[in-house]
Amino acid sequence: MVATWATLDDNARLNSLETPQLMERESTLMKKGQFLALFAALSLAIASGSAMASSDGEKVFKKRCKACHSSEAGKNKVGPYLAGVFGRKAGTATGFKRYKGLKGVDVTWDEALLNEWLTNPKVFVKKRGKKSTSMTFKLKKEGDRKAIIEYLKTL
Ligand code: HEC
Repeated sequence: MVATWATLDDNARLNSLETPQLMERESTLMKKGQFLALFAALSLAIASGSAMASSDGEKVFKKRCKACHSSEAGKNKVGPYLAGVFGRKAGTATGFKRYKGLKGVDVTWDEALLNEWLTNPKVFVKKRGKKSTSMTFKLKKEGDRKAIIEYLKTL
């Protein structure tokens, strides 16, 4: 079959005429796209150090802690509010009356202590001369504990 200009439809003719310009436009678009993708990847890499870890921690918080704890200062639930808990003396959330195992325990929350507490609150208070705790909960996965501790630091 012989194709002549007469047998080509208008679109095909337009396309064949515009091809070089289209290709040029496409390649600029691609360059822009690649640049944006690279930029996004770089920003992610930069942010991942802190932001990603704390968002993991936020997920753990929502799933495992939020039923009993609020992240808002002064808002106590079954457990004391956790805003500002990192670096705070244990058992001293304002207005929380239901401390049991942590009442009068002389520790200030840091990474190691929070890790020990979350691993097994009962063992934690027994080691410090208390019989039991009202936090009947263990965060078993080390990765979850790390993530949540990073998150607690931001509250
Ligand atoms: C079933 C309810 C419950 C769950 C779930 C729970 N907690 Fe608790 N939490 C408590 C209670 C109650 C206390 C007070 C314990 C005591 O004095 O014996 C407490 C105390 C704490 C404290 C010490 C606060 C202070 O003021 O000294 C921290 C930190 C803490 N919880 C973190 C967490 C984290 C993080 C999670 C989720 C991974 C979590 N808790 C899940 C009930 C809970």
